[in-house]
Amino acid sequence: MTDKKPRAFSGIQPSGKIHIGNYTGALQPWVEAQSEVDGIYCVVDLHALTATDIGSGKSVGERSREVAALYLACGLDPGASTIFLQSEVWTHPYLSWVLETQVPLGWLSRMTQFKSKSKEADSVPTGLLTYPVLQAADILLYDADIVPVGEDQKQHIEIARDIAQRFNSTYGTAFVLPQPLIGTHGSRIMGLDEPTAKMSKSRALVNQGHSIGIVDDPEAISRAIRRAVTDSGTRIDVQNAGAGVRNLLNIYKSFSGASDRALAARFDGRGYGVLKNSLAELLVDTLAPIRNAYQRILAERSYLDEVLNSGRERALRISTGKVARVMEILGLRG
Ligand code: TYM
Repeated sequence: MTDKKPRAFSGIQPSGKIHIGNYTGALQPWVEAQSEVDGIYCVVDLHALTATDIGSGKSVGERSREVAALYLACGLDPGASTIFLQSEVWTHPYLSWVLETQVPLGWLSRMTQFKSKSKEADSVPTGLLTYPVLQAADILLYDADIVPVGEDQKQHIEIARDIAQRFNSTYGTAFVLPQPLIGTHGSRIMGLDEPTAKMSKSRALVNQGHSIGIVDDPEAISRAIRRAVTDSGTRIDVQNAGAGVRNLLNIYKSFSGASDRALAARFDGRGYGVLKNSLAELLVDTLAPIRNAYQRILAERSYLDEVLNSGRERALRISTGKVARVMEILGLRG
């Protein structure tokens, strides 16, 4: 009998400002599942080349190291999880190309993210269209059983599954079909300035009041919460809160683990200011140690280098085996 742990794979793009939604939707669940899964966490820097803000001051390489440091600062243990940079593992763009030769164009042009992003752009890079195929390659290279992500990634995991299924049924089984793992709360945090739109890394660069960065200082956190949009009333009704208060309650719930009952007992009938003060305090208390650890890790270059080198070696070991299998199945080796 084997007691092999299920494999989890996920990643964050080193673009924009990494925020509390990325924490509750991704980093926090990764850390919580750490002892139950074989976790592989990638900094998806090749994906970030499609982001429009990549030129804003820092190089993609610098941002990638920052995101890797954040993985560690949030509690990923390199002894238990594998952490690496996507661009250092050649199998990712390689398998992506192979899969692109198989994926119908219509599957990609119908993707919600492609449609909305290409509407905003004057000229649409091909990488925006093929983005989900690289994401599928990321996941399928490692036989990931589960992909812990926020709600906005659901369609991307579904297409990865469809791509795997199509390939397996055409050529013979090569890939495990991955399942998205999306939490019941914290998987869709909304903007503080506009609680009907998802909190996004790029919006934060345009409007400071939009999000809270995981490594923001306590003053910036408190200011952002103070200015957050609430509802038009004055008193909290946990069950029937509007979008603004619901978002604040949801953030509170994700960071505290409090049940709806506990939330109601604490906040029902009280003013919005009470919620804002408690939330600011909770966020500062949770994020301050992460910020300290982050600064320490970034300052100590050799430790991060070591983590990323050993992560890359393990990622290569696993994924080159998968590429060999795919080459064999496709008859690329005579
Ligand atoms: P990215 O970099 O946009 O986001 C990283 C993770 O954060 C989650 N997230 C949120 N969760 C809750 N509320 C929000 N407002 C919020 N905004 C973002 C995202 O769902 C994600 O889990 N395409 C991916 C990166 C990627 C990937 C992969 C993920 C590339 N390859 C393979 C998983 C597996 C992305 O752009 O995530």
